[in-house]
Amino acid sequence: MLIIKSVEELMNVAFRVKSNGKSVGLVPTMGALHAGHVSLLQKARQENEVVVCSIFVNPVQFNHTEDFEKYPRVLEHDMSLIADIADILFIPSEKEIYPTPPTEQYHFGFLETVMEGAARPGHFNGVATIVKRLLDWITPDKAYFGEKDYQQLLIIRQLVKDYKLNVQIVPCPIVREANGLAMSSRNTRLSPEALNKAGLIHRVLSLSTQAIHYPVEQIKQLVIKELNDVPEFEVEYFEIADATTLQPVTDMNTPESVMGFIALHVEGVRLIDNIKYK
Ligand code: PAJ
Repeated sequence: MLIIKSVEELMNVAFRVKSNGKSVGLVPTMGALHAGHVSLLQKARQENEVVVCSIFVNPVQFNHTEDFEKYPRVLEHDMSLIADIADILFIPSEKEIYPTPPTEQYHFGFLETVMEGAARPGHFNGVATIVKRLLDWITPDKAYFGEKDYQQLLIIRQLVKDYKLNVQIVPCPIVREANGLAMSSRNTRLSPEALNKAGLIHRVLSLSTQAIHYPVEQIKQLVIKELNDVPEFEVEYFEIADATTLQPVTDMNTPESVMGFIALHVEGVRLIDNIKYK
């Protein structure tokens, strides 16, 4: 695995690889890698001749400095997980990516006004800032994003559409722990008991798909109550929305595809997950 720290070298290597007619797949991450990230890399491995993984804890997408500072940085562990899968690992410093504070302003219309966009002002602008720079520097054929961060996936799709970027965005299914909890770098902050209990999130969401013929408001109340009944849990939002526009759904029959989206706090750790209704 070739380790690259400078943008200049990254651009040179990417240009050389593409000039040789090789296909390039990019998996952007913030490190603290787990089986979810590995699944993206494996998919990229199957579909491309050269796989690039980036690890960069992107300061401008964090809302709280404390959250940014607390973000796990475990490069040795990350490298051991991906050494056999990725060809190139890009691990830039903050100064390398942002020699001066970034000033990009991206707008995603309704998509950025709800859920994670509403809860985390500036978050998606920060995500778009780093992802757009990576796509411009590497010009991959395909880039891989997890459905765990479903709203982020839609935002990136819109970024690609708006800027007419020549890259295919490949969505990847959520990888879960044995108890159903969606894998996340943040799970390491949970106590063993909380990790255990957090399996309930996916169980409740899965069960709610069986109530698809109930009124939407009733499904929402059921899910929120069931999870808030657990003393360590505090639901921040649970929304049932159109899977392509994220517009709230009042009638399950109308949109072609409908999903449920949750953010909740478990022992003070903020987790997100989602479920497909149809
Ligand atoms: P990070 O949280 O490290 O996630 C990197 C990629 O892994 C994202 O596309 C995310 O959706 C995916 N992922 C995380 N957990 C997953 C799981 N359990 N199953 C499947 N995929 C999973 O998302 C980011 O970093 C950043 O916002 C980034 C896009 C790198 C920009 O800084």
